[in-house]
Amino acid sequence: LPEEWLRVADWLHKARHVVVVTGAGISAESGMPTFRDAQTGLWQRFRAEELATPGAFRRDPALVWGWYEWRRMRALQCEPNAGHLALAELARRVPQLTLVTQNVDDLHERAGSPDVIHLHGSLHAHRCLACARPHAMPPGVPSEPEGGRLLDPPRCAHCGGRIRPGVVWFGESLPEQAWAQAEEAVKEADLMLVIGTSGLVHPAASLPEKAVRRGCPVVVVNPAESELDGVAEVVLRGAAGVVLPVLGALESGIGTSP
Ligand code: APR
Repeated sequence: LPEEWLRVADWLHKARHVVVVTGAGISAESGMPTFRDAQTGLWQRFRAEELATPGAFRRDPALVWGWYEWRRMRALQCEPNAGHLALAELARRVPQLTLVTQNVDDLHERAGSPDVIHLHGSLHAHRCLACARPHAMPPGVPSEPEGGRLLDPPRCAHCGGRIRPGVVWFGESLPEQAWAQAEEAVKEADLMLVIGTSGLVHPAASLPEKAVRRGCPVVVVNPAESELDGVAEVVLRGAAGVVLPVLGALESGIGTSP
């Protein structure tokens, strides 16, 4: 094993407060399309950035609603992978672990991670565009949008307004409490793992820099180069589902060997 893997395992063993920041890459091995994967179906002529905006929803609510229902369907069809599970196990072993995700799926929760901080909202939360009241979708997996298009989004039972996905769109601000919790955790962190994110979207991508400015080492886990490699103390070039279980095994082996 390369020396830096052992180094990171040792940091994990000694850490008091680990902050983990995840992106779409940690859900890739579960079969969730990453945010910048090429679109499929009716949406293949759009980039995700063109669909995830208030303007797109205003111009063509059925197109954007259909895309999010398709992603919600995919999320409900996926299972947490070894990377999600390794993080849930790590949280049981270190004194404190704060998990901050840019993902809108609930795979961290389903893997057993408690108190997940969703900076970009969730596919499983919906609210009324007009009165902001939460809206509960029917249980179960939505059917495949025929030809990639669904009927217009449902209407709010209270005010008749249009229901929108509970995710943060480009141009929208992050949920204040989630952001404040993430910043607070970074102030106390003595180790940060950044897993499966291209680091292209701010302010989430600024969390590693904040950690480094405080002298907290940042470890990047990504099979490909990313914007955040530059601030990383260590880059573990590999898939989350491979690297995280190995780190967990190494960490739990420290201090037990005679
Ligand atoms: N393990 C770890 N990382 C992986 C894996 C894997 N198995 N597979 C892919 N990756 C990496 C890719 O190399 C890429 O760097 O995951 C990253 C995915 O990048 P994006 O698709 O840009 O997703 P993300 O960084 O989460 O995007 C951030 O952009 O607008 C938004 O809201 C959207 O939350 C999203 C944000």
